[in-house]
Amino acid sequence: MNLTRRQWIKTGAQLTAASMLPWSLWADQPQVPHINIQARETTASWLAAPTPIWAYNQPKLTLQQGVMQTIRVTNHLPEPTTIHWHGVRVGNAMDGVSGLTQAPIEPGASFDYQIMSPDAGTFWFHSHHNTIEQLARGLYGALVVSGNDEPHFERDWSLLIDDWNLSRNGRIDPVFANRHNQSHAGRMGNFLTINHHAGPWQGQANAGERIRLRLINTSTNRILQLHAQFPGALWLAKDGQPLTIPEPIPEVIILGPGERWDLGWIAREEGQLLEVSGADSLLVGQVEVNPVENTDVPAFPDAMALPSNPMSPLSASVNQRVPVILEGGAMGRLQTAQYLEESHSFRELAAKGQFWAISGQTGMPEEPLFRARQGESVELVLDNRTAFPHTMHWHGHHVWANGRWQDSLTLLRGQKQSVRLVAGNPGKWLIHCHMIDHQATGMMTWFEVA
Ligand code: C2O
Ligand code: CU
Repeated sequence: MNLTRRQWIKTGAQLTAASMLPWSLWADQPQVPHINIQARETTASWLAAPTPIWAYNQPKLTLQQGVMQTIRVTNHLPEPTTIHWHGVRVGNAMDGVSGLTQAPIEPGASFDYQIMSPDAGTFWFHSHHNTIEQLARGLYGALVVSGNDEPHFERDWSLLIDDWNLSRNGRIDPVFANRHNQSHAGRMGNFLTINHHAGPWQGQANAGERIRLRLINTSTNRILQLHAQFPGALWLAKDGQPLTIPEPIPEVIILGPGERWDLGWIAREEGQLLEVSGADSLLVGQVEVNPVENTDVPAFPDAMALPSNPMSPLSASVNQRVPVILEGGAMGRLQTAQYLEESHSFRELAAKGQFWAISGQTGMPEEPLFRARQGESVELVLDNRTAFPHTMHWHGHHVWANGRWQDSLTLLRGQKQSVRLVAGNPGKWLIHCHMIDHQATGMMTWFEVA
């Protein structure tokens, strides 16, 4: 189907209803100048001695909703890499999954990603090749897609919160894959950064200003537990998708790896963000508020609600129901699972470094977990039969869970939950645990949209 922009505007409503997604429809738009991203080795000044890390030269990208953008990624690392645009409903060939949607970018080479986000909101980008090491070394950034009708905020801050595992010498612990961590909750860190800087992060605002805070958990394995003391703040969006009605913020925000929360706040008095998952609570950031009221700031219309994105509506009926059974790990009850198309006992799997399974399969299976036609409605019946929490992530799609669209969902141990997905974008899409230690040891599968 090849529509002009004009026709799209005319037939937009019908198309959305028919779950036709808009990416192909902007194809004739003028291109904007391309963005260059360099993946390279660098150092961070967190402690007395510099810490070697890997990072992108652009820690934050801002794209415009619905505008095609070329992003040229050049690899200056000593090994191949790719970039995945987490949560952005990109074309499949641009999804950045090494080995599934593209060959990795070799050292010294470049790759042009053509990215057009149909959604405005908070996303992030990160390496999706040897992720267990490359993400832990710092290869990630914030991706903000701004929409045309969003309310104006005087301050718009993205906080990439990361949990690094540093050795005594201040360097990143070089043991990225450790069997004990992998079969338990994953490698946990001991040093928190915000936007690749040592915390706490500091913000400054004038009284009465409207603030948008975008919280992004880039940790490889840690589920952050955030206590947000911003009096009167509201929860505006999850994983880039606005809540229908902004909600008050819970006492503790459970933010699994890869998950994002957008908060809206009118600054009246100082605000603080604490991380309380460890024994002591850590100050992540604080906002100082200059008490002189800025009287030019108009009141917020509709309690700061963000305009919704063009999501395909859920139909009343379900075309297929797919069990997504999470099994394995230490203290789990996994007996056997398929690995490389053969059945193995848990002991054999463990010997091959595979600890986790999804619906009886470990590692990337040959066959997808399910196939769906575009527009089909799929119910995923998630069942966490392990002794650990998992943050499941869907590529190219958001699922409807707890009355919200989400691309990442944290399931506590033993938790069962059904979520709904509308097969949109054609292609091969991953489903995996975003605790990278689990993903790397089996908790990964895929689905195909035809
Ligand atoms: Cu954030 Cu498969 O990735
Ligand atoms: Cu997991």
